[in-house]
Amino acid sequence: MKIALLRPFLFACIGALSAGPAAADMVSKLIKADLAKGERVFKKCKSCHTTDAGRKNKSGPNLFGIVGGAVAASPNYKYSKALIEYGGNWDLDRLDAFFTKPKSEVKGTKMGFAGLKKEADRVNLIAYLNTKSDTPIKFDAPAEQASSAETAQEDYEFGVLFDAPGVEETFYACGACHSEMIVAQQGLTRNGWEEMLEWMVDEQGMSEIDEPDYSVILEYLSTHYGEDRPNFPKPNNLNQTKETE
Ligand code: HEC
Ligand code: HEC
Repeated sequence: MKIALLRPFLFACIGALSAGPAAADMVSKLIKADLAKGERVFKKCKSCHTTDAGRKNKSGPNLFGIVGGAVAASPNYKYSKALIEYGGNWDLDRLDAFFTKPKSEVKGTKMGFAGLKKEADRVNLIAYLNTKSDTPIKFDAPAEQASSAETAQEDYEFGVLFDAPGVEETFYACGACHSEMIVAQQGLTRNGWEEMLEWMVDEQGMSEIDEPDYSVILEYLSTHYGEDRPNFPKPNNLNQTKETE
C-alpha cells in the first residue's frame, strides 16, 4: 500500500509507463469490466451510499466522482480521523485495496463493511463507480456487456433467503451488517417487521431505506418470513430454501 501512496495519480494518461505495473494491471482489467454486474455489486453499498451528483450523504458519504477523486471530500460529511489522515486521491489501486478489506487499507475507518473477496466484483464495481462522475476515466473501447441470459445463469447469490421478488433488495439492505441468517430465522407479522425495521434504524444504525425499496423489502419479509415461518432455514439444507405450501 505504501507504493500506492507515493505514486501520483496518473490514470488520465493510461498508456504512460509512469502509471506503474500494478495500476496498468488494474487498467487492463477495467477495460474488460462489466458495468451491469458492477451496478449489481453496488447494491451491497446502497444502504449506506448514494452515487448521483448532489445526492445526500447516508450513513456513508455520497460517492459521486469518487474514482480518482480526493479522499474524504464529500461536503457536510463527518469522516473518521483515520480516513482524513489517509488523505490523497482514490486511485485505482487504493480503491481496489479499500474494497478488498476496508479496515486493513484504512485502519480505524468507520466504514462497517467486511469487503469484497472476488476481484471480478471489485473491478466491475470500480468501473461502475467511474461512470458516476463529471470526468470519468476513459478506458479503451468499452467491453461487450454480458447478456442478461448469462447473468441469469449465475449461481444463486442470496444465501439462505427464499428466492422471490424482493430477495435481492432484502439481501443487500440487510446483509450489510449481519448475516441474512438472522433475518431468515425471524417470523413476524407485517406490523412486526415494520417495527423491526424501525428498531434497526433507531437503535442499530441502519439508514432509512428509501422507496421503492422499503415497500419491496417489507412485502418480501412479511410474505416469506411471516409468523408461520414457511422458510425457516433448515440446518442440513441451508442453501436450498424452498417454500412449502
Ligand atoms: C454499513 C454502511 C456501509 C456500507 C455497507 C458501505 N460503506 Fe462505504 N463508507 C461507509 C462509511 C461510514 C464511510 C466513511 C468512512 C470513514 O470516515 O472512515 C464510508 C466510506 C467510503 C468511501 C470513501 C469515501 C470518501 O469520500 O473518501 C468509499 C469509496 C466507499 N465507502 C465505498 C463503498 C462501497 C463501494 C461499498 C460497497 C462495496 C461500501 N462503501 C459499503 C459506510 C458503508
Ligand atoms: C447498519 C447495520 C444494520 C443493517 C443495515 C440491518 N441491521 Fe439488523 N441488526 C443490526 C444489529 C447491530 C443487530 C443486533 C445485533 C445482532 O443480533 O447481530 C441486528 C439484529 C437484527 C435482527 C435480530 C433481532 C433479534 O431480535 O435478535 C433482525 C431480525 C434484523 N436485524 C433484521 C434486519 C433486517 C430485516 C434488515 C434489512 C431491512 C436489517 N436487519 C439491516 C444491524 C443492522
